[in-house]
Amino acid sequence: MTKDTKTEFYDIDKITNTIICGDTIEELKKIEDETIDLIFADPPYFMQTEGELHRTDGSKFNGVEDEWDKFSDYNEYDKFCFEWLKECKRVLKKDGSIWVIGSFQNIYRLGYIMQNLDYWILNDIVWSKPNAAPNFAGTRYQNSHETLIWCCKSKKSKYTFNYKTMKHLNDNKQDKSVWDIGICIGNERLKGEDGKKIHSTQKPEKLLYKVILSTSKPGDIVLDPFFGTGTTGAIAKLLGRKWIGIEREREYNKAAQSRIDAVETLMDEVSNLSLEVKPPKVPMKKLVDKKYLKAGQQLYNKKGEKICTICEDGHVTDGEEVLSIHKMSAKYLGLTNNNGWDYFYINDNGIDTLDSLRYEYISKEEKND
Ligand SMILES: C[S@@+](CC[C@H](N)C(=O)[O-])C[C@H]1O[C@@H](n2cnc3c(N)ncnc32)[C@H](O)[C@@H]1O
Repeated sequence: MTKDTKTEFYDIDKITNTIICGDTIEELKKIEDETIDLIFADPPYFMQTEGELHRTDGSKFNGVEDEWDKFSDYNEYDKFCFEWLKECKRVLKKDGSIWVIGSFQNIYRLGYIMQNLDYWILNDIVWSKPNAAPNFAGTRYQNSHETLIWCCKSKKSKYTFNYKTMKHLNDNKQDKSVWDIGICIGNERLKGEDGKKIHSTQKPEKLLYKVILSTSKPGDIVLDPFFGTGTTGAIAKLLGRKWIGIEREREYNKAAQSRIDAVETLMDEVSNLSLEVKPPKVPMKKLVDKKYLKAGQQLYNKKGEKICTICEDGHVTDGEEVLSIHKMSAKYLGLTNNNGWDYFYINDNGIDTLDSLRYEYISKEEKND
């Protein structure tokens, strides 16, 4: 990796899609201001585990006992987190956003530092683990979740949130802030030749999939300052985003690199965000004038029930009132407002949407122009 000598910063193109091996604070300092679109940070937890943990059958449970998770006290941990969070803020573009994940041991400290640094919290997400390890001793509740804090750089940031895509993937319902995702096991878990886990805290790909898909665009640069096994890089590549990883441990970097090399980018209508594209503006009257619809034609709901009839001027009537398609669908649903394009069907089969006619109109009429 070469450094641009004039600015003392890395050439961003040269570090894109690479793992930087080194201390995260030192390496973040070499990245130019406002060059990163999205950050996912999974820092040390400072677990402070003492002694070995055992399952009920007496076997040893491998929790987080790594050297990288050790700090002398909260003072040292807080200083470390303040420094890397400050650098992350500097390298984020003004409309960029950051996700930070932690557990009860560290998430409150991280949230406090982030607010002090004037990050603007957008959501805290509960990652609920259906297959979490039990509390073997039975002395507390089972700890079955971690928390992700999602922030933008400032209150004014026009951050990316791919609302429609996430709604589509959630059975067309607004997605919520509790995510049920199993911990990383099976083939997804990277193992060494001895069959042991390479990393104690490898995150599940599904978690990174939601994070990256919901808050970045194709071609964006996603930075992970605690890269570990490269889960962020693997999913960023899969979704057609660029990535940069920073990680101190060479063993993890080797495993992460071969993992990412094996990933193939999949650009489809989900990853390329085609659902986010604003619908074409076509008035109902245009569709009537151009004979895509006719006056007197019925409109149906998804169940195939007749709701209203189309008028010459593009309004619709239910026999009582003449309204726009939006007001008519809202009236039928007992709401103040509703999107009529999404509600109505032109046949009673629950398939042929009124909305599809707008797209047909645009593609045909633009060809004729
Ligand atoms: C919680 S793990 C991240 C796991 C990762 N998200 C994954 O899915 O594999 C934290 C990582 O940060 C690395 N790390 C800790 N302190 C660091 C530092 N000062 N500089 C660079 N890397 C560091 C550790 O080696 C460890 O791999």
